[in-house]
Amino acid sequence: PKMLKTISFFTNFAVLVVSISGRATQVSYIGCYVDNETRDLRGLTGVSRIGQFSIESFTLSSLNMTHELCSSVCSLGGFPYFSVQANYHCFCGSSYGSLGTANETDCNGVCGGNGAQMCGASWRNSVFALTYPDRKYFEQTQMPNQTVESTQSTYWTSAAKIKAECLMMCEASADCQAVIFSGQQRLCHLLRFAYPPASLSSTDGDFFVRG
Ligand SMILES: *[C@@H]1O[C@H](CO)[C@@H](O)[C@H](O)[C@H]1NC(C)=O
Ligand SMILES: *[C@@H]1O[C@H](CO)[C@@H](O)[C@H](O)[C@H]1NC(C)=O
Ligand SMILES: *[C@@H]1O[C@H](CO)[C@@H](O)[C@H](O)[C@H]1NC(C)=O
Ligand SMILES: *[C@@H]1O[C@H](CO)[C@@H](O)[C@H](O)[C@H]1NC(C)=O
Repeated sequence: PKMLKTISFFTNFAVLVVSISGRATQVSYIGCYVDNETRDLRGLTGVSRIGQFSIESFTLSSLNMTHELCSSVCSLGGFPYFSVQANYHCFCGSSYGSLGTANETDCNGVCGGNGAQMCGASWRNSVFALTYPDRKYFEQTQMPNQTVESTQSTYWTSAAKIKAECLMMCEASADCQAVIFSGQQRLCHLLRFAYPPASLSSTDGDFFVRG
């Protein structure tokens, strides 16, 4: 996978492009928002593990939390938003703001893994937008040796005779982040994350991750 790390500056906010599994994203700051135990960003509902990170109650926690760590994990699920909270916590979401905005000065905590980055505060989310430059682009890579675990299914399967048919089905769905195309079985597995579930991790097929 290509590795990309560019930094440019827009007004006072850094816009950075990071890549994981060949997936490039642009990160931009949105603002400081209220959170409570209901959770504003619930994109990881049902998910208990993404690669090396365990997820509990929609929350990825790490002493080494940074914007890059949170964005790289949320980008595996193609989420348009992520937030960081109280130094160590990361959330992914398809929306944000359900519990209201907070005063910018509330988000005065730093990230556990980078004291120069803000990471919300107690019950305050620093919310960021993630954009994916080229959703029509697919890169063939080795099947990732990391998996995603969830109580909800993280893939669906359709018949496909050729690779292009499989990739077109993925392109047509905002929920599709990668595919496994099995030419022999003429099956296309469409994945909600750029990592396969354990049940598909030894499938004989070609793996393509979406840009
Ligand atoms: C969180 O806030 C929302 C909106 O004010 C409220 O409906 C919900 O009950 C709150 N949840 C908790 C656990 O406090
Ligand atoms: C966090 O960072 C420290 C120092 O860089 C490192 O020793 C440690 O292994 C990291 N922990 C995790 C869970 O990644
Ligand atoms: C935000 O907090 C600062 C510092 O406490 C205060 O001066 C300012 O008036 C607040 N702004 C709003 C919109 O509440
Ligand atoms: C998993 O794959 C990565 C790169 O794709 C590699 O660096 C790493 O050693 C692999 N880990 C295992 C346990 O195979």
